[in-house]
Amino acid sequence: MKTTIQHIAKYEGQEVTIGAWLANKRSSGKIAFLQLRDGTGFMQAVVVKNDVDENVFKLAKTMNQESSMYITGTIVEDKRSPIGYEMQVKNIELIQEAVDYPITPKEHGTEFLMDHRHLWLRSRRQHAVMKIRNEIIRSTYEFFNARDFVKVDPPILTGASAEDTTELFHVEYFDEEAYLSQSGQLYMEAAAMALGKVFSFGPTFRAEKSKTRRHLIEFWMMEPEMAFVEHEESLQIQEQYVTHVVQSVLENCQTELKQLDRDISKLEKVKTPFPRITYGEAIKFLKEKGFTDIEWGDDFGAPHETAIAENYNQPVFITNWPKEIKAFYMQPHPDNPELVLCADLIAPEGYGEIIGGSERIHDYDLMKQRYEEHGLSGPAYEWYLELRKYGSVPHSGFGLGLERTVAWISGVEHVRETIPFPRLLNRLYP
Ligand code: 4AD
Ligand code: MG
Repeated sequence: MKTTIQHIAKYEGQEVTIGAWLANKRSSGKIAFLQLRDGTGFMQAVVVKNDVDENVFKLAKTMNQESSMYITGTIVEDKRSPIGYEMQVKNIELIQEAVDYPITPKEHGTEFLMDHRHLWLRSRRQHAVMKIRNEIIRSTYEFFNARDFVKVDPPILTGASAEDTTELFHVEYFDEEAYLSQSGQLYMEAAAMALGKVFSFGPTFRAEKSKTRRHLIEFWMMEPEMAFVEHEESLQIQEQYVTHVVQSVLENCQTELKQLDRDISKLEKVKTPFPRITYGEAIKFLKEKGFTDIEWGDDFGAPHETAIAENYNQPVFITNWPKEIKAFYMQPHPDNPELVLCADLIAPEGYGEIIGGSERIHDYDLMKQRYEEHGLSGPAYEWYLELRKYGSVPHSGFGLGLERTVAWISGVEHVRETIPFPRLLNRLYP
């Protein structure tokens, strides 16, 4: 019977075959312990000299790390194993002997590992992070599908910028100039007017010259957009969504969280409602804390976000930002037109902003005025303005940065480990 490590519990007492790689091994005299990995998980296989053909035992003792094989044996319970089972080996059919695998069980430097990212992905730690990433994606679809959102795919090649125009990647589009999308939002607003509640999930690109543990050049964003939803309701959906994702990882990624030594008591505290402070309160708090480098009207840097987040053991919303430091499309605050109806969601433990969202301007004249203030013109923006012309309605949306969310939930320090092949300021390889 051919199976995988993930399903091994079903085969206790039975003989199975697994396609696997050798992650590690140790042996002494008459016994060899093989640490197998098969993509679905990790498991120990025990080869006892007297139970197998001579050549099989010889192979088990000499096989190199990352050699590939079909391995056959009986599944038995093993209380010490993290997965509860191990294999008593009957036979090994070598597929390829690996020679000089560069990533040995010893410690390697970050640059070396990043240069070998195509192989580093095979490690237990990277495997765990990728599985958590997958669970976040799966539970995102689950959350939005259960609430009647329609998945819509905005284009990647675009003519208009949604966020900071200095961070655009320019590409030739025949005779025109195009950009790689830095957010699907503008298109998602059009989609929300057609389908009501929509969400996208796709890659976005920012030519940011930031070299921090939170910045990637190419990252993936979840962008829900909702017609007839005002700011307050959007905040509630955001906190429910983030809570759902955290709960799903806690339920379905126990092995992975353990592999990463994640302190899950911190994740268990994530419950709705999330605390909120206004931008104004945040500035006041930072000044009281002794930050002298921040004034009303400034955007926050990582140290500011971290100082604010340290006050809470939950993600925290910072609301009501000055309009000057936010995007052109944000709805003014009804009590103070200098502020906009928006929020950034800051993750605990110093992981920074994981969501940026707002209510959008739906008034045609006001949007037109904002265009003029921001110097936006030309056909690339005309269609967006037109959305405010034909049955415009209040609507809100937000964008969750997948990699920062993976970093926070997994507890890994740097976003470079949260995406299979990170694109960084100084890295396009592999
Ligand atoms: O706050 P941002 O720029 O918001 C938008 O793009 C909106 N148009 C989204 C929307 O309302 N539909 O980006 C959203 C999130 C941030 O909170 C952050 O988590 C992530 O995207 N993000 C990055 N993640 C990794 N590397 C970068 N360079 C990032 N820039 C933003
Ligand atoms: Mg933002």
